[in-house]
Amino acid sequence: MKIKKFINKKNKTKIVALTAYSKNTASILDNYCDLILVGDSLGSVLYNYKSTREVSLNMMIEHSKSVRMGVKKALMVVDMPHNTYRNSREALKNAKKIMSKTKCDAVKLEGGKKIFEIIKTLVKNKIPVMGHLGLLPQSDKTFIFKGKKKSERDRIIKDAQLLEKAGVFSFVLECVETSLAKLVTQNIKVPTIGIGASKYCDGQILVLDDLIGLNPMNYRFVKKYTNIRKEISKAVSNYSQEVRKIKFPNKKNSF
Ligand code: KIV
Repeated sequence: MKIKKFINKKNKTKIVALTAYSKNTASILDNYCDLILVGDSLGSVLYNYKSTREVSLNMMIEHSKSVRMGVKKALMVVDMPHNTYRNSREALKNAKKIMSKTKCDAVKLEGGKKIFEIIKTLVKNKIPVMGHLGLLPQSDKTFIFKGKKKSERDRIIKDAQLLEKAGVFSFVLECVETSLAKLVTQNIKVPTIGIGASKYCDGQILVLDDLIGLNPMNYRFVKKYTNIRKEISKAVSNYSQEVRKIKFPNKKNSF
């Protein structure tokens, strides 16, 4: 039902999505987001890994269990990490594990034609699947925009059609050139969720740490809506001064 409602947003209202890796942030996001993704980007964002390829199934499950406690309304999607869906059997076993241990609503897999049969198997087994096309961090180390070359363009269009045929309820378009994102979005029935893929997608997703400025890096496709590092600095600086001056704890904070 949640998924049906989500798909119905296409052509009606833009879809709002963000990543979350733990309960407290997830519970804030839940008031504003249609979809919350436990992204394997947590590998680089939280653990300083060079790529998402190092993220394990257990890490995704533990973070997702935390996120689940904060999400009541939004659709909760969990990334299947690298090497957990190399064939249909492996994918089904691991997707079932993610779904049962985390109580999420759906899983997300990266790729097109190569994982067509795998997605079909999951969907046939009643596991809702979100796709991911364009820049694929689990397999692509170039980090450049997709869809400038004709061959790339044609492949993304074909892959989008295949994902739809395989039964995904939505897919992420990452770092995809504007006119291609528009074309794909207009020709596919399920919602496209863009990250660095223009305003023409049906919705947008960002990594929370990027938009609140917790991540000090600047990316062109990100708008920083606040500088949370500054806010944390201010609070921690005040705390440290008060501890050193024996102003904290005061009477009110003592028993
Ligand atoms: O891992 C992730 O956070 C993602 C989003 C950036 C789409 O896949």
